[in-house]
Formats: sequence, structure tokens, C-alpha cells
Amino acid sequence: MNQVDYLRISLIDRCNFRCQYCMPEGAELDYILKQQLLTDKELLTLIEEVFIPVGFTRFRLTGGEPLLRPRVVELVRAIASLPQTQDLSMTTNGFLLAPMAQNLYDAGLRRVNISLDSLDPDTFDQIIGNRGRPRWEQVWQGIHAAYRLGFDPLKLNVVVIPGVNDHEVLDLAALTIDKQWHVRFIEFMPIGNSQLFGDRSWISSEELRQRIRQRWGLTESQVRGNGPADVFQIPGAKGTLGFISQMSECFCDRCNRMRLSADGWLRPCLLNETDQIDLKTALRAGISTIELREQVRNLLAIKPDINFKQRYSGTATGVYTRTMSQIGG
Ligand code: GTP
Ligand code: 5AD
Ligand code: SF4
Repeated sequence: MNQVDYLRISLIDRCNFRCQYCMPEGAELDYILKQQLLTDKELLTLIEEVFIPVGFTRFRLTGGEPLLRPRVVELVRAIASLPQTQDLSMTTNGFLLAPMAQNLYDAGLRRVNISLDSLDPDTFDQIIGNRGRPRWEQVWQGIHAAYRLGFDPLKLNVVVIPGVNDHEVLDLAALTIDKQWHVRFIEFMPIGNSQLFGDRSWISSEELRQRIRQRWGLTESQVRGNGPADVFQIPGAKGTLGFISQMSECFCDRCNRMRLSADGWLRPCLLNETDQIDLKTALRAGISTIELREQVRNLLAIKPDINFKQRYSGTATGVYTRTMSQIGG
């Protein structure tokens, strides 16, 4: 069985973007109330006294947009300085990265995954719902700031939406040729904006690979990396191309992660809407961290079955009701 040692921690469910595929303008969500968010102290207690003792050593900070979390730099410092932390990373939309990258680096963050769905500022703004304020340039600055500081690996996430940005796949892939950037194409999932999904559907990674192969050729990398991505490379390129193919492929059998929501629910799987435990309420009720470890161990033990069950039966409607911003991506 795969070792599950990677915890994705959502720091906040709010976001300063309104990506069409996630939380589009108008679809206002029930945000977690401030008093329901795990406090910094509660989060650190859970990491140190529950997750590390049961074997988690790798942590990814997500959102919503994690850089909106107050005191995020201090949180990074606290988690990075734990001797058991082997890997600390962040998934961000990059908008606030340029001014914060140095402080994050100094606090111990060494790798970031940044969303970049388009190289065309107009298309980008249309996808992320810019509300009249152009955002592409600032994200681009953030990517360069992280690269200059030496964040490594630097991964760029592209959710491919047919007819919206799929015509840019070759241009986005080309970013990996001269720079050690790792561009990952993500198959669009029916999570979040199901209407857009219904209208647009999704394109398989294999189809994208064929387009790239025709242009430059493509070799499969020996290194798989940490997560669900299949890694390839344009011959001679400095960076790599990752394909995250949850629609066309099932990678549940190699899943190595669980998810902690910003209000303290531990979710065994991205797609799981039923089996989860409420660690925050338990902690606030005075349940000991020793008992909480037991609860997490029990969830770990049934995780493989849950992965497959969720994968194949899904929800009653086949559409997941929560958005990525609520789940933590
Ligand atoms: P690293 O490999 O550690 O860099 O992380 P990652 O690629 O998993 O992290 P990131 O936050 O960049 O996730 C990118 C995309 O991968 C997400 O949008 C999801 O679409 C997909 N993903 C990540 N984890 C899972 C998972 O457990 N199940 C499924 N179905 N998709 C996942
Ligand atoms: N399908 C695929 N990826 C998605 N993301 C958000 N919503 C979806 C979806 N419906 C991606 C973001 C980010 C990551 C955390 O999740 O673009 O890269
Ligand atoms: Fe924000 Fe990420 Fe959702 Fe876009 S996908 S709205 S950046 S949480």
C-alpha cells in the first residue's frame, strides 16, 4: 500500500480571484466564519501532535488563496522549522507572490505551484474574473520573483478548458524549453462550476501530448515526482511537462495524501464528500491529541477503499457540490 505522508492544508477558503471553473462571479459561496477557522495555534498543535506522530512529513499549504491568510509567513516559518518537516510547499494563484516571495523564502518555503491558465492577459483576466483590474502582469511578476529567488521546483498549473485556453497549449509547453519551469496540464474536472463543465467538457492529456509530440517530440521522464502528475519532457528542454489526468486515468492507487480544510475537517480524498472527521470540534471539546491520532490512523486504514469507492460511485448526481477553493485544491 502507498504510504500516505502528505497533508494538503487549506489555510483559508476565500480567494481574490473568481476563476470561472472554480468560484465564478455571482456564485457566492458560504464562506467559513472566522471563528470556525482553525487558529494558527490549533493548526500547529494538529501538525505537531497529531499528523507528525502518525507519519505525515510533507505539507502543502493551499486555499482558496493561501497568501490571503493573515500571518501566513509566520505559519510557514513555524511549519518549516519543525525537524520532522521534509517538504513544505504552497499552491497559490500568484497574485500576491511578487511582494511576498522573499519573506516566504526566508521563512523556509522552497517550492510553489502557481496557476497560470493563459499567456494572453485578456484570456487570463477572462478566466480569473478580473473585475476590471488586469491581473496577468502581476502574476507573471510573481512567477519571475519566485524563479529568481530559487524556488525549485517551480510548477505552473494550467486547467485546460476546451475552446477557452486549449489553443495555448503549445505556447505554454514552450515555457519549459529555456527555463527550468514545470508546466502541468490539468484535465478539467466537474468540481466547482458544473455548468461550465457541462458546456465545455474536457480534453484528455493524451490528446495534448499528441499535439506536443507533433511539434517537438516528447520523452517520458523517469522521475514521477510526488503527486498525481505523469511527467514528460520536450527533448533538450530545461523544464518538464506534467499531465494530471484525473478524468482519463485513475491514480487513486498511488494516492499519498489527505486534506485538512481551513475549518479543520480531515478529508481522505479530493472527491470524498462523506467520510471525513471534524478535528477542530474534537480539539475544542478537549479530546486529547492521543485520541485524535487514533482517529486519523483509523481514517488512514480505510483510505484505500474510500478512494476507489468515491472514484467509481462518485456522488448521487455525479457532480461534486464543493469547489476546489472549499476543498483546498
Ligand atoms: P506536488 O506534486 O507535490 O507538486 O503537488 P500537486 O501537483 O498534487 O499539487 P497542486 O496543488 O499543484 O495540484 C494540482 C492539481 O492536481 C489539483 O488541481 C488537482 O486537480 C490535482 N490533484 C492533486 N491531488 C489530487 C488528488 O488527490 N486527487 C485528484 N483527483 N486530483 C488531485
Ligand atoms: N478542475 C481541475 N482543476 C481545478 N482547479 C480548480 N478547479 C478545478 C477543476 N474544476 C485547480 C486550480 C489549481 C489547483 C489547486 O486546482 O487551477 O491549479
Ligand atoms: Fe481562487 Fe484557485 Fe479557485 Fe481560482 S482556482 S478561484 S485561484 S481558489
